[in-house]
Amino acid sequence: MQIRPRRNRKSAGIRALVRETQLSTDDLLFPIFLVEGKNQRKPVDSMPGIARLSLDGVLKEVESCMQLGVRAFDIFPVVGEQLKDKIASYSWAEDNFYLHALASVKAHFPEAVIMTDVAMDPYSSDGHDGLVGDGRILNDETLPILAKMAIAQAQAGADIIGPSDMMDGRVGYLRAALDDEGYEDVSIMSYTAKYASAFYGPFRDALDSAPKFGDKKTYQMDPANRLEALREMQLDTEEGADFLMVKPALAYLDVIRLLKDNSELPIAAYNVSGEYAMLKAAGERGWLDYERAMLESLTSIKRAGADIILSYHAKEAAQLLR
Ligand code: PBG
Repeated sequence: MQIRPRRNRKSAGIRALVRETQLSTDDLLFPIFLVEGKNQRKPVDSMPGIARLSLDGVLKEVESCMQLGVRAFDIFPVVGEQLKDKIASYSWAEDNFYLHALASVKAHFPEAVIMTDVAMDPYSSDGHDGLVGDGRILNDETLPILAKMAIAQAQAGADIIGPSDMMDGRVGYLRAALDDEGYEDVSIMSYTAKYASAFYGPFRDALDSAPKFGDKKTYQMDPANRLEALREMQLDTEEGADFLMVKPALAYLDVIRLLKDNSELPIAAYNVSGEYAMLKAAGERGWLDYERAMLESLTSIKRAGADIILSYHAKEAAQLLR
């Protein structure tokens, strides 16, 4: 007798029976870039297929995604340079177009899951995620700013806030601040293991949010580190996070698996802008089959242990999964 694993691969029907990982539209969360104004559609050059949309376009995008079965969205604002300052005050301003847009999306689509990003960079004249003083990123002084931003987003209707700044102690600080204001139902998806990665380049193009000096290495994690992700996991868990995220995804599949094996919390992975751009660029040149490579990538992120995948491919993936 010879053991023949190929018997379980002999037809599509058998392969479906033994398939271990099922990618579903339920797993996907679609990031969207919002600009101020009306009828705006500004393509992001480094992210073919992705554009910065004004609210009218965002509403259409959300609607078509919902019809395809993608119900969760992470909305990021493109903030004009003239609105930026040292303390990111526009992030909680009364007349902030982003906050108004969130409320509008929520009013049109109450069943949609709306996630927001909590970090100073899109609103900061320094382009950093934290407050800058004497050329350094100040941790504890940043926390009250993040809290104001988070509360404003919760008030606008965010279901999940996503602290993406990697300041120490932010999850506990934000949890307490939200609870104090009566937003105990607002969830926190912590960017738990967020690496100082080159793969965020296209995102910073889209938001025009690159740091004005230096880099983010004193707060985002060193790509070489694994145990440090466990340490961040423990802290975010103790501080009350509802979801733990690993970011980027494809170059950090081992970290996704590490967190999945060591936590009871749902694990999310952010398939970031640069990962999207790579597949698009190669696909456009005819160097690989974009659709297959995309589904393979998303499946591998799920196989690694991600329960939730944030991805710019989400809408296209949903079209193929249908
Ligand atoms: C902001 C933020 C970034 C991303 C999500 N939130 C950029 C950064 O940290 O520089 C990156 C997302 C992507 O590349 O798709 N703190």
